[in-house]
Amino acid sequence: MNYKKYRKMYHPVPLENREWPDKEITHAPVWCSVDLRDGNQALYSPMTIDEKIEFFTFLVKLGFKEIEVGFPAASNTEFDFVRRLIDENLIPDDVTIQVLTQAREHIIAKTIEALKGAKNAIVHLYNSTSTLQRRVVFHKNKEEIKQLAVDGAKLVTSLVEGQLEGNIRYEYSPESFTCTEPEYAVEITNAVLDVFKPTPDRKVIINLPSTIEVATANVYADQIEYMCKHLNDRENLVISVHAHNDRGTGVASSELALLAGADRIEGTLFGNGERTGNTDIITVALNMFCQGIDPKLNIEHIDEIIEVFEKYNKLPINPRHPYAGEMAYVAFSGSHQDAIKKSMDEYEHDESHMWANPYLTIDPTDIGRKYEPILINSQSGKGGVSYILEKKYGYVLPKKMLIEFSALINDMSDEKQTVLTNHEIHQAFKDTYVNVGKPIKTRFYRSSESEDASTILTATLEYNGKVSSIEGIGNGPLDALCNGLRRFLNLDFEISDYTEHALARSSDSKAATYIGIKEHGGKRIYWGAGVDHNINTASIYALISAVNRMLSR
Ligand code: KIV
Ligand code: ZN
Repeated sequence: MNYKKYRKMYHPVPLENREWPDKEITHAPVWCSVDLRDGNQALYSPMTIDEKIEFFTFLVKLGFKEIEVGFPAASNTEFDFVRRLIDENLIPDDVTIQVLTQAREHIIAKTIEALKGAKNAIVHLYNSTSTLQRRVVFHKNKEEIKQLAVDGAKLVTSLVEGQLEGNIRYEYSPESFTCTEPEYAVEITNAVLDVFKPTPDRKVIINLPSTIEVATANVYADQIEYMCKHLNDRENLVISVHAHNDRGTGVASSELALLAGADRIEGTLFGNGERTGNTDIITVALNMFCQGIDPKLNIEHIDEIIEVFEKYNKLPINPRHPYAGEMAYVAFSGSHQDAIKKSMDEYEHDESHMWANPYLTIDPTDIGRKYEPILINSQSGKGGVSYILEKKYGYVLPKKMLIEFSALINDMSDEKQTVLTNHEIHQAFKDTYVNVGKPIKTRFYRSSESEDASTILTATLEYNGKVSSIEGIGNGPLDALCNGLRRFLNLDFEISDYTEHALARSSDSKAATYIGIKEHGGKRIYWGAGVDHNINTASIYALISAVNRMLSR
C-alpha cells in the first residue's frame, strides 16, 4: 500500500479566530431532499416517472419544503417528470421544487423551459471550481471559470425574468468546493451574487458542496465559516451544505457546517447518493431530536420510511444504521441489557418523563420501534433474559433463580452458536422449571383443616410410572405436602425461597409461584415454578417441580 502517492487535496483555510468550535446546534436547518436527483442518479435502476411522483409525494408527507426534483436537461424522463409535477398540480403551495443545471447555455434554456407554470421553484446553477477540475477537465484558468459562472448566472436571470412568472429563487454551487482555494471560492461566488442580486425578500442560496470529502469534518467547518465571513451580502444569503460521504463523515461534516454558519442541508433520506452517498438526513435529524431539538420533519414512523425507501431505491438499509437499522435497538451484551432495563424501568416511573438511557440515545417508541426483541446469545446476562421473561411472558423470577436460568441460556446459545429467540427462551424456562412432571407427577390433591387448625393434605402421585398416595400434615397445604414428600421419598429438604405473583401477561389470570428448596445442610438451591389458575395449586406444582429437579440432579 503505497501511501506516499497520496497528498492532501484541500487548500489551507486562512480562517482567523474561528468561532464554530464554541457553537451548538439550536434549531433545525432548512432541509432540502436531493433523493430524486443525487439519490436517483446513483441507482442501478433509476425510478420511472410514476415512481418518482410517488416518492415525491412521500417526501412531501415527511415534511420537506424544498425538494430537488432533477436535472431536467439531462434526460426526457427528468424533463417529463418536472412537467408532470407542474401540469398535474402535484406540488403543494408550501413546497418548492428545485432543478439543477450546469452553467451552459442550451442546458439552462431547457431547464427554464421545464419550469414554466411552476409556482415556487429554485434554479440551482453550478460549475466546477477546484484546482484539479480547472486544470484537468476544463483546461481553463480562474478568470475563465469565473466568466463561465457569471455568464451562466446572467442567462439564468434573463430567462427566468423573461419566461417564468412564479416565485423563482436562485441557488449557486461552486462544485468541488472542498478542493477549491477558499479565496477563489469567495471571488467566484461573489461574482455570481453580483448577477443574482440577493434581497431580503429573495435571498440567494449559496450551496457549498463537499462534492468529494477530502478532509476531516473540522476542515469543512473552517471552509464554511470562512465563506460566511467573506461573502458579500451575508444577511441576504441562505448558506447551504451538500456533503458527500467519501470518508464516512458526511453527517459530521453537515453538523459541523451548521456550527460554522450553514442554514440549510441538502441530503438524502438514508444517505443514498453518488459513490459513498450524501448526507443522511434521517440521522442528522434524529441526532438533533435526541438533543431536545425539534427536527421539523415527520419521521416518527421509521419503518414506513424504510419500506418506501427500499421499494423505490431498491437499496437495503444497513442493519447497523444509527437509528433505522434493525439492530439499532438490540443489545447483546449482558451488562448493556441490564443497564437498559434498569433505565427503562426508571423512565416508566419517573414523573419528569425525561429520557436517560446509557445505551439508547432515543426512546425507540418515538419512531415507532420497540426495544425488542432482545437477542440473547452467549454474551448476554440476566438483564436481557429477565426483560424477555417479564415483558413478553409476565414472569418475574427471584434473583437467584434468574442467575441460574441465565447461565443455562448462555450455555444453550453457546452450544447453538447463535442467538436464541424469545420463544426458545420461554420454552427453555417452561421445560426446565414450570409444572415439571418427572419423575413425580401430581394427579390429584385435596387439603382439609384438622381440629387443631393444621392442614391435612392427601395427594395421588405418579412416581416413575407407579401411582401412590401420600399424606402430610402442616401449617398450610405447602408445609403439609413437604412433610408428606419427605416421608414418601425419604428426602430431607426444606423450602428456602418462596415468591408468587399474578401472571400479568396471561389473558386468563393465572398465578405463578417460584419455590427454591435445599437439602438439609446443603447449599445448592433447586428451583421449581408452578403456574395455575388456583394459587394453591400453583404452589403445589412449584414444590413438586423443585423436588423433581432435586431428584434428577
Ligand atoms: O456534489 C455536488 O457537488 C453536487 C453539485 C451539483 C451541487 O451534487
Ligand atoms: Zn452531490
